[in-house]
Amino acid sequence: MKWCRVLDNVEALFNPRSIAVIGASRKPGKIGHDLLKNIIEYGYKGKIYPINPKADEILGYKAYPSIKDVPEDVDVAIIVVPAQYVLDVARECGEKGVKVLVVITSGFGEVGNVEAEEKLLEIGKKYGMRILGPNIFGYVYTPARLNATFGPRDVLEGPIAFITQSGALGIALMGWTIMEEIGLSSIISTGNMIDLDVIDLSKYLAEDQYTRVITIYLEGLKEGSGRRFIEEMREITKKKPVIVIKAGRSERGRLAVASHTGSLAGSDKLYDAAFKQAGVIRAYNIEEMFDWARALATQPVPRGEKTIIITNGGGVGVLATDSSEEYGVPLINPSETLKQKLRETMPWFGSPKNPVDLTGQAGVDNYVKALETAFESDEVDNIVLLYCRTTVLDPRDLAKAVVKIYDKYREAGKPLVAGFVGGLDTLEAIKILNKNNIPTYPSPERAVSSLSKIIEYRRYLARQKIID
Ligand code: COA
Repeated sequence: MKWCRVLDNVEALFNPRSIAVIGASRKPGKIGHDLLKNIIEYGYKGKIYPINPKADEILGYKAYPSIKDVPEDVDVAIIVVPAQYVLDVARECGEKGVKVLVVITSGFGEVGNVEAEEKLLEIGKKYGMRILGPNIFGYVYTPARLNATFGPRDVLEGPIAFITQSGALGIALMGWTIMEEIGLSSIISTGNMIDLDVIDLSKYLAEDQYTRVITIYLEGLKEGSGRRFIEEMREITKKKPVIVIKAGRSERGRLAVASHTGSLAGSDKLYDAAFKQAGVIRAYNIEEMFDWARALATQPVPRGEKTIIITNGGGVGVLATDSSEEYGVPLINPSETLKQKLRETMPWFGSPKNPVDLTGQAGVDNYVKALETAFESDEVDNIVLLYCRTTVLDPRDLAKAVVKIYDKYREAGKPLVAGFVGGLDTLEAIKILNKNNIPTYPSPERAVSSLSKIIEYRRYLARQKIID
């Protein structure tokens, strides 16, 4: 029963029928104004109620002096008033029957104001309201076209969920994902996590049809929630990959975490062990986390681990080979039959061994035939496609051809990752490929590293007996 109620209210956070912004300011540049503007302009379709005792109307919406004056039900109340007013406002929300409070306001546990935080949680419990925050920048859920943050507006839709315990970093990464064209299902700032925490949110996202991978920037768990983290995450990771960056690995980093969100950083070794037990994939930097997420979100779980590298450049082929060994990606030794087929895809001075070298003379046709051969072959489970900029092959033409082949073999269940190295036109090709769900990176190492996480996740599912 409790579980149902909890899920219902978390559902209201992601798909609210109505939202009130309490402290919606009339002045552009203030958080309460910009957040309301984002909600309106990003395209939220539910009802929007600005609450401000000094205004009749804000950004074209009728304003109410108090939440209690709103004539209809309110699912989510976003609180953007100074800390000293938050408890009174929260009580009014409780009396109104609000389901979830999203408390943007700072000045609670993170500055030692633990008592106010406890009172806020008591109010939440008394009225059965869930609380996100306090001390957060808000949240985004793209399937509902809901951007309730004071960060960048035009978050791209996609299959990656991002939960962040750091506010400023989270806002910065919102902009970064737009620049990198990474599509997100949600971005959630957790702040002080007095109620809803990374575990509750991951649990919801594990069932969310729009989310394929969950990424988390974590500074520390709440005291006493380590066991719960392992148990719940173990179930979640059976459904979807979870990638975590755990900050505060070093001793000085640990102290920095304590003064940032006030979380218990705990021993890094303990976290490491917990992640392993829970099947959580640990990333060590932001680039890795999103690289891996891109691959895991778009590619199928392969039948096996046998991998082939196809390249037009010996150097990138060798680098990818080194990375494969480093990251535990098993490269096949093609059979004579396969080698014969591959030979037909390249000039006589190419190499059908693995890495398959189509040579610097390779054109679209060579790549297309080599890719078709790899997709058709039973010896191959995974493909790494590499390209170095040459004058004979425009990377954008190659990208378009690869998209066609990939569409043709979509049902083959073979992951394809690509590394394209070159200048600005190569960057355009990378964007074409990523837009078409082929994870593509500007270096061979990043492509192989990303494939290694697909293979790692396959191993994990096999150990859990979810796949053979
Ligand atoms: N109900 C509704 N509106 C109220 C109110 C109440 N009880 N009390 C005040 N307001 C209105 C104000 O009149 C004002 O509107 P106006 O600008 O049109 O006059 C608006 O709410 C905001 O109040 P104000 O006193 O101007 O606060 P502020 O905008 O300077 O600061 C916070 C409010 C929440 C932004 C600030 O206290 C804060 O916590 N900032 C940090 C937020 C943050 O960084 N979070 C973490 C990010 S990672």
